[in-house]
Amino acid sequence: MKKGIKIIVIMLLAFIALQFWKPAEIEYSTPTKNLTNVPDEVNTILRNSCFDCHSNTTNLSWFDKITPANFIVSSHITDGRKALNFSNWDDLDKQKQNSILFYAFNKILSGEMPLKSYTALHPSAKLDDRSVAVLKNYVTSIAARKTNPQKPLPSNAKDNDNIVLNNTISDYSKVKPSPNKISYIPNFRNWKAVSTSDRFDNVSMRIIFGNSIAVKAIEEHQTNPWPDGAIFAKTAWKQKTETDGTVSAGEFIQVEFMIKDAKKYKSTKGWGWARWKGNNLKPYGDNANFDQECIACHNPVKNNDYVFTTPLHLDSNTFNIYTKSK
Ligand code: HEC
Ligand code: HEC
Repeated sequence: MKKGIKIIVIMLLAFIALQFWKPAEIEYSTPTKNLTNVPDEVNTILRNSCFDCHSNTTNLSWFDKITPANFIVSSHITDGRKALNFSNWDDLDKQKQNSILFYAFNKILSGEMPLKSYTALHPSAKLDDRSVAVLKNYVTSIAARKTNPQKPLPSNAKDNDNIVLNNTISDYSKVKPSPNKISYIPNFRNWKAVSTSDRFDNVSMRIIFGNSIAVKAIEEHQTNPWPDGAIFAKTAWKQKTETDGTVSAGEFIQVEFMIKDAKKYKSTKGWGWARWKGNNLKPYGDNANFDQECIACHNPVKNNDYVFTTPLHLDSNTFNIYTKSK
């Protein structure tokens, strides 16, 4: 018994002594004003869920200040600010602000942000469905891909949007197959967008679409391996900025496909690989082995069935920016 008390006292003293050991001071309490050009409602949500790690205003709880928790917290804050600091908002041009919000929303949908380890202890930072809906509305409004109304789709195209502007193609059945004998799939434009990779470099906008089998697999969390029949289409456009700062899809660069069929494409890691370039959809590759280049670059994610994309969480309100663009 006596021994037990002794141990407790020693541990207590050690714990108190530990409190003198603190992480390097970081700036905590510079007030961060609301993000300009962003609605109050959106500001409130970001402040509540993200500013603690992504701005110079940090509301720490008492338990965040205790060693060793404070070391974890301050490393999150330091890394979080490095990745994105909303206190520097006014230094960014509107286009960059928009792409940051777009990207940030993607991180929320994918479940990466806010950090789970943080919301576990700070439940008020969790985003409820309503907050996600508010952000989605806002982000969709700023990310609306305006396409050029002067260039209608060919009349025989079945697609109901005109996001890929292939003026030169009047009959998709005339598009040549890729050297490994994969046929072009014009229908991908009706698929759901499963991810985007807008880059801050403003060079290209990339959107990844999944067909219904891929989408179902995502919903059912059956994505490793992906089921036969799943297809991804990765599209890239040059990014164009309007005078009002709106980012829109410029010139079409290319579309790439990965078609899952474990048997048929056994020799190429279970996927059929194909790429068509430019408005006239020229098949890419000099010979049937061109896909070795694709595989080599996708090899680092072989444990993920060669797929890079972490799908967004899809639900009935799937974030589909395409249905919005008129
Ligand atoms: C507990 C701290 C914490 C909170 C709260 C938090 N983040 Fe982060 N965030 C981080 C850290 C740490 C990183 C950098 C590490 C990384 O890239 O994974 C980061 C990175 C990011 C990035 C950049 C990722 C990249 O790949 O460059 C974005 C965007 C982001 N967070 C958005 C958000 C949004 C939006 C919220 C609120 C909904 C949020 N974060 C809440 C800690 C946090
Ligand atoms: C230089 C490296 C590289 C090469 C070469 C490459 N890819 Fe990719 N691919 C990527 C990366 C990285 C992504 C993840 C999305 C992003 O960041 O744009 C990706 C994503 C994709 C996707 C969406 C599914 C996924 O994995 O996320 C498809 C489809 C795709 N690539 C097809 C191809 C095809 C077909 C080829 C060959 C003609 C090819 N790729 C060659 C790097 C590469």
